[in-house]
Amino acid sequence: MLDYPQVALDFMNRDHAEFITLRENLLATISAQAPEPDVDTLLNELLAHTHHHFAEEERLMQETGFPPYAMHKSEHERVLADMSARSEHWKQGRNTVALREWLDRDIGDWFVNHVNSMDFVTAGFINAQSGERT
Ligand SMILES: [Fe+2]
Repeated sequence: MLDYPQVALDFMNRDHAEFITLRENLLATISAQAPEPDVDTLLNELLAHTHHHFAEEERLMQETGFPPYAMHKSEHERVLADMSARSEHWKQGRNTVALREWLDRDIGDWFVNHVNSMDFVTAGFINAQSGERT
């Protein structure tokens, strides 16, 4: 299980929990040697979820004038590009070992690191700004 902190915004915590569930379902599906289309469906869901979650974070960062917005957004762009490339690579090569390693190690490490650093600070900032406006 991945160990990551809760942040100051509920929607982000819910999305993070959903991300963890999607990633775990995907790893379990790969381990069970499920048919490739089943893996593709879950992988597409993980990408769509991440896309949507990042867009929501970015919208709120812009609304509240988060100063390091560009840094956080460029990290999102880097991750989305990597996810798309890995997904394409999987769909062309069907290398189960590579897909599993990437999800298990790289995505796991990235997620814990990202929530601990950028998301934690961003949620705190947005939460404080929203509080001031009400
Ligand atoms: Fe983020």
